Amino acid sequence: MDIRIFDSSRELAFFAADIFAELIRKKPDCVLGLATGATPLETYARLITLYEEGGLDFSQVRTFNLDEYLGLPVTDPNSYRYFMDSNFFSKVNIAPENTHVPDGNAADAEQMCSEYDRSIQASGGIDLQLLGIGRNAHIAFNEPGSDFSAGTHTVRLTESTIEANRIYFTESEMPRFAVTMGIGSIMKAKKILLLAVGDKKAQAVRDTVKGPVTPEVPASVLQNHPDCLILCDKAAASLL
Ligand code: F6R
Repeated sequence: MDIRIFDSSRELAFFAADIFAELIRKKPDCVLGLATGATPLETYARLITLYEEGGLDFSQVRTFNLDEYLGLPVTDPNSYRYFMDSNFFSKVNIAPENTHVPDGNAADAEQMCSEYDRSIQASGGIDLQLLGIGRNAHIAFNEPGSDFSAGTHTVRLTESTIEANRIYFTESEMPRFAVTMGIGSIMKAKKILLLAVGDKKAQAVRDTVKGPVTPEVPASVLQNHPDCLILCDKAAASLL
């Protein structure tokens, strides 16, 4: 696992966006694994700028998002499908049918999960997976104690994740369940790019990079990935 530390989240985002841009130029129909949350927003903004400047074509790009709340309508601004459409997909020339977010309203959630993994495989697999990290080192909704071999599955959210996300749920009710790519699905990505910004992530970054590989620190599994790059700002790297 490689680590790069940046003076600001803006520099980090420009660097991350360049990695995406280089891949898209080299492989126009590449498969991207995408994340929601506050951390990747600057990277998405930079990718949108590169697109607007004419330097990037998303017309053949395919995407698979990591996770989604269960039971939240896609029209709810807190749904991850809404987040991706409004913050990224609607602002570049990606084909809507090439964007995939787990369906949090599927009648049969188990079937939807196995179909999600099958469609990732059928696409040829994820070329570049973007990850954020939780304060407890969760990746996607894989909380401490998660099975390293799991595929896409449904989870009950932990109190710490509910607490961290509560700020977003001023009007709609905070969901208690979600669907997430499992650590097994994430580890199949050819390359992984994890972004960590701010001092609240410092302990998680330290445990991920310097601690033992253990399900208690879900992101520590990335030590076993052959091509994982962690980008941190100074605050997130302050305990390294
Ligand atoms: C989002 C996701 C989550 C976030 C993590 C960090 O798709 O999978 O694991 O990456 O909770 O969230 P932020 O970036 O808001 O600090």
